[in-house]
Amino acid sequence: MAKIILVASGKGGVGKSTVSALLGEAFAFKKSPVLLLELDSGLRSLDVALGVSEHVLFDMGDIIRGSCETKDAIINCPFCPDLSLIAAAAKPVAVTEETIRKIIGEFGNYYEFIILDCPAGIGPELENAAKCADLGLVVATPDPSSIRGARAAGNLLSSFGVKERRLVIERCPLKAKKLSPIKNLDEIIDGSELQLIGVIWEDPATRDSMDSGEPLDDSNTNYECFRALSERIRGKNIPLGFK
Ligand SMILES: Nc1ncnc2c1ncn2[C@@H]1O[C@H](COP(=O)(O)OP(=O)(O)OP(=O)(O)O)[C@@H](O)[C@H]1O
Ligand SMILES: [Mg+2]
Repeated sequence: MAKIILVASGKGGVGKSTVSALLGEAFAFKKSPVLLLELDSGLRSLDVALGVSEHVLFDMGDIIRGSCETKDAIINCPFCPDLSLIAAAAKPVAVTEETIRKIIGEFGNYYEFIILDCPAGIGPELENAAKCADLGLVVATPDPSSIRGARAAGNLLSSFGVKERRLVIERCPLKAKKLSPIKNLDEIIDGSELQLIGVIWEDPATRDSMDSGEPLDDSNTNYECFRALSERIRGKNIPLGFK
C-alpha cells in the first residue's frame, strides 16, 4: 500500500508544489511509482511543472462530480514514466476526505507513494488531507511569518493524528547573511517545533524547472537535495550536511 505523504504550509507561496513535484520526481527516477494529487482547487500548477498542461482532459473536479473514472484523470509525466498526476480542479470545489480515500482505495496498491499537494493554510482542506496521511511534510521559508505558519500547520497535523511530521526548509539563501532577520537554521527548526528532514536552496534553475515543465538537471544542487530528502523518507540515514 502506498505511503501517503502530505505537503503543507501555513503561509502560501513557500514552495509546497515545488517540493511535491521534485520529491515525486526523485522517487520516480528511482523507479518508485508516484501519484501526485493536487488538492489546490482553482489554483492548478503541477500540470505546468510536469509539462502536461495540454493533456489535462479530466481533473479532481471531474472525479468529485462523477463525470469521469479516477483512472481517466491520471496523467503520466512525459520525462518521468513512474510519475503520474491528478490535476487540481479548474474551479474551486471542496475536496473531501471521502474523495481522497476513494482515490487511495482505488490506486494505493499501484503506487509506492501518493503525494498530497495541499493548499496553503490550516483550513478544512488540510484537515481532510491530514486524516488520510502517513507523513506530513511542512514547508517553511526563512521568514518569520512562514515559520509561525509552519508551527500552526504542524500543530493541526498533530491534532488530526499525523504521527510523522517533518520540516522542509525551502528557498534557503546560499549566503547565511541573507537569512536576516533569522540568524540561523536552528531558529527555523525551533520556531516551527518540527524536526528537520530537508533543506532546499533558493535557486533560479529550480524555479525555471517548475515554470518550463522540464526536470531539474542532475548537476543542480537541489537535485541532490531532493534525492537526499527522498532517501530520508525511505528511512535511510543521510546526514543533513550543513550547519
Ligand atoms: N528553491 C526555489 N528556488 C527558487 N524559486 C523557488 C524555489 N522553490 C519554489 N520557488 C518558486 O516560488 C514560487 C512559489 O512556489 P510554489 O508554487 O511551489 O509554492 P506553493 O507553496 O505551492 O504556493 P501556493 O501556496 O500558492 O500553493 C514559484 O514561483 C516557484 O517556482
Ligand atoms: Mg502550490
